[in-house]
Amino acid sequence: MSSSDPLLRRAVPSAAELLELEELAVRLAEETGRLVRELRPPDLASTSATKSSDTDPVTVMDTRAEALLRSRLNEARPKDGLLGEEGSAQPSSSALTWVIDPIDGTTNYLYDLPLYAVSVAVVVGDPTSAGSWLPVAGAVRAPVIDVTWSARVGGGARRHGPSRPGTVGTTGPAAADVPLRISGANDLGQALIGTGFGYHPTRRAQQAQALTRVLPTIRDLRRLGSAAIDLCLVADGRLDGYFEVGLNPWDLAAGWLIVTEAGGTVSGVDGGAPSADLVVAANPLLQPQLLSLVATG
Ligand code: IPD
Repeated sequence: MSSSDPLLRRAVPSAAELLELEELAVRLAEETGRLVRELRPPDLASTSATKSSDTDPVTVMDTRAEALLRSRLNEARPKDGLLGEEGSAQPSSSALTWVIDPIDGTTNYLYDLPLYAVSVAVVVGDPTSAGSWLPVAGAVRAPVIDVTWSARVGGGARRHGPSRPGTVGTTGPAAADVPLRISGANDLGQALIGTGFGYHPTRRAQQAQALTRVLPTIRDLRRLGSAAIDLCLVADGRLDGYFEVGLNPWDLAAGWLIVTEAGGTVSGVDGGAPSADLVVAANPLLQPQLLSLVATG
């Protein structure tokens, strides 16, 4: 089954259910964002461990935030499946599975840098099999900058907040429910592009190699430290594009939908579904140019 398969499309819930799912994703991402921000222990570094490599952190708050999301979802949506970064894996007895990242940008969180987020998405299909699933509703909450981005399939994408004027990273008065619009950039030479790096030294070396082609070709590059936020900033027109190799479904699920609902294109290798092999996001004019630049070599 591929993510453009009609069977997947047929599994998409009704417009009324999608609205409920998006609202639930927003509520849970915001509640979890409060927990993560307000209860961040001052001695976080000393109580943290590592996962896939010596530099891939997991904090007590990643585990605690995932437990909160799991318990809320089990209560609200007992038939839906669950896949979480910190090990949640529950089969679905509905057509839906929640794909959650309790803290995306854990290294930023560990160092008390502001760009980290809670990502909550609900998908049809099997999120453990690349190309066999599609996000249908989701939200990304960045609690320190007080912004939530969300979307539902066919229902557009929006930014909620910041709720307080003058919040870090914003200018002008508070805004609520602003429809997202992707940037119109169509010249790579003038494009501001985001990317990220994996935790394995071998992958990092390959990523450094790719940068020797990308950096001389674009306006500039940003490595902000949260793939979910990078994708939302593409949707919000604050980055012209984004690419990364090595993303997991929980890094990608909500942001992918938010970009496509803002009018953008997200693909993987050869224009297929985004996956761990490659994710490239931008507006439909720029995306193929960025894809061929990062996929070459
Ligand atoms: C990481 C962040 C980072 C990206 C890595 C991800 P985590 O997620 O999204 O920006 O470059 O590939 O693994 O580990 O902080 O949840």
